[in-house]
Amino acid sequence: MRSILLRTRIPGPNSQRLLRERERQIPRAVFQVAPVFVAHAHGAVVEDVDGNCFIDFAGGLGALNAGHTPLAVVEAVKHQADKFLHTCFHVAMHKPYVDLARKLNAITPGTHAKKTFFVNSGAEAVENAVKIARCFTKRPAIVCFEHGYHGRTLLTMSLTSKVKPYKFGFGPFAPEIYRLPYPYTYRRPAGMSEKSFVDACLAHTRDFFKTVVAPESVAAVVLELVTGEGGFIVMPRDYARGLAEICGEHKILMIVDEVQTGLGRTGLMFACEHYDLVPDLMTTAKSLAAGLPLAAVTGRAEIMESVHVGGLGGTFGGNPVACAAAIAAIQAIESDHLRARAREIGAQVMQRLNALQKRCRWIGEVRGLGAMIGVELVKSRARKEPHTELAARVVKGCAERGLLILSAGVHSNVIRTLMPLCITHAQVEEGLDVLASVLREGI
Ligand SMILES: Cc1ncc(COP(=O)(O)O)c(C=O)c1O
Repeated sequence: MRSILLRTRIPGPNSQRLLRERERQIPRAVFQVAPVFVAHAHGAVVEDVDGNCFIDFAGGLGALNAGHTPLAVVEAVKHQADKFLHTCFHVAMHKPYVDLARKLNAITPGTHAKKTFFVNSGAEAVENAVKIARCFTKRPAIVCFEHGYHGRTLLTMSLTSKVKPYKFGFGPFAPEIYRLPYPYTYRRPAGMSEKSFVDACLAHTRDFFKTVVAPESVAAVVLELVTGEGGFIVMPRDYARGLAEICGEHKILMIVDEVQTGLGRTGLMFACEHYDLVPDLMTTAKSLAAGLPLAAVTGRAEIMESVHVGGLGGTFGGNPVACAAAIAAIQAIESDHLRARAREIGAQVMQRLNALQKRCRWIGEVRGLGAMIGVELVKSRARKEPHTELAARVVKGCAERGLLILSAGVHSNVIRTLMPLCITHAQVEEGLDVLASVLREGI
């Protein structure tokens, strides 16, 4: 049975009416990918207000690893909502906060003592991880990466690498931020082996701590092991391990941003596990609470405890309904074997797109980890110029044919998959049929 059902042209009349009202009431800066308004969503299917059904390869921007409205999460939310909605943890504490902290301390990499606290968004989690790292090390500088994305607050926007649209016009930026090139193997110099490239990147990183910033001034390196908004570039294992070694030599903390990669997306609970990396601090958000706003900083107990009483917190951080949702969402990821599903989905998508690459001259590279697959579109395989316009047409064309999908990358030329991990094999096939037909036509 097909999941995509189109009753009207996209957008349909009801979405069009809401779009006109949206344009009157909401600034255009708040961008949207698909011109539709949602009525219901379940599993991996979204139904709009005109009765059109879409397969979802976007997953609420990677926040729905456990799927739309997973039953256990919805029940947990209702159960908690019936009891109380909010107290503010600083005013009067509640058990869901403590239970979720214990769970994250247990499932994040490393057997050392850990502590966790909660905030509202991925950006806020990264911002707080930086605060904690500075407080613990008493050092000011932060190192981040080109192609990195960490959020839209002043500090995280400063850490983010894509200028337009995220930073343009919003400066001046936060000081003491230093940026390394990301080891982007697809764009390594022609003729260079991957191994030589990674060695050269590591040599450059060592030089960076002589030519750009002194290591004893650096509190932390903030990194994504697979860049999210940056185009699903997978950090080579040897680079990540070499970087960890350099950080260890200079007592620089490693903050691994698992906001997009975490909670099963890459086929393991956290991307760190693919690298045998144990970060000092880790940030999670997005799929943590199955779509409710919640984010966490988890870290070594001695680092987390270096901050004075009252130094961390906020009104809504660790809201009881969001914590209850997260406990149920993590349980669903574990008991529904969604990590194994992520690996199967990734293999299915890779196989289809690798086959398509032979017939579609615009596909430069298909890459990824688990179900986090990116397709880099280029104007010619030889010269690798980013094909930004095609990626925009693909996203639009897919939405018109019933597939919600996103682009990524500093040139917005990478199509990425962030489908709910409860998606069926048949739904993945159906979604890929749409993507393949749109890509082949180059619309
Ligand atoms: C890796 C990463 N870090 C941080 C963020 C910011 O999260 P939020 O949008 O919840 O502030 C994002 C969002 O896309 C992300 O992908």
